[in-house]
Amino acid sequence: MKVIRIVAWAAVVAVAVFLLAQRFATTRDAGDRLGGDFTLTAHTGETLSNRDFRGKFMLIYFGYSFCPDVCPLELAKMTLGLNELEKEGYDTTLLQPLFITVDPERDTVSALNEYVTDFHPRLIALTGSMEDIQDVAKKYRVYFKKREQEGIDGYLMDHQSFIFVMGPDGDYVRLFSAKDQPEDIAAAFRPVLEKKK
Ligand code: NI
Repeated sequence: MKVIRIVAWAAVVAVAVFLLAQRFATTRDAGDRLGGDFTLTAHTGETLSNRDFRGKFMLIYFGYSFCPDVCPLELAKMTLGLNELEKEGYDTTLLQPLFITVDPERDTVSALNEYVTDFHPRLIALTGSMEDIQDVAKKYRVYFKKREQEGIDGYLMDHQSFIFVMGPDGDYVRLFSAKDQPEDIAAAFRPVLEKKK
């Protein structure tokens, strides 16, 4: 009986791993079709579009400032990766860290203006109408959904957690996921950056 149970569990795990891998593969294979135009409002109040970042690598993370755990962790990772490069003497101005909120209801310009101070000094946080956010999230295939939870003031947002890298031409380059560390981010950009003179 015990063996049967183990086999059954192994099957369940195998299916789960397969489904997860498939879902991940979908995001990865989307490759060059990922991304597209957006025009949003920055935490400074300025209107910015993807075209304003042409010539730079955009590192885009979708999340929300009320996120209790994953978002601050990933944004810190992005910050630490850039900091590492800067410590090594690299000019990181070619890299533009961006945070696009999936919770425009609470992430107003002023809320984001406060939030960015926790991270890289050049991080730009972007918000917009719910329609604008849905549009850009769809272009990057980022799933998000509001989730009410008992015992919590307000609500949570379920969302996917990837750092998308778009190249100087605006095309998709790669993504970083939860398993990637600041060192991985630094390593990916070292070859394309120059040292400050
Ligand atoms: Ni989050």
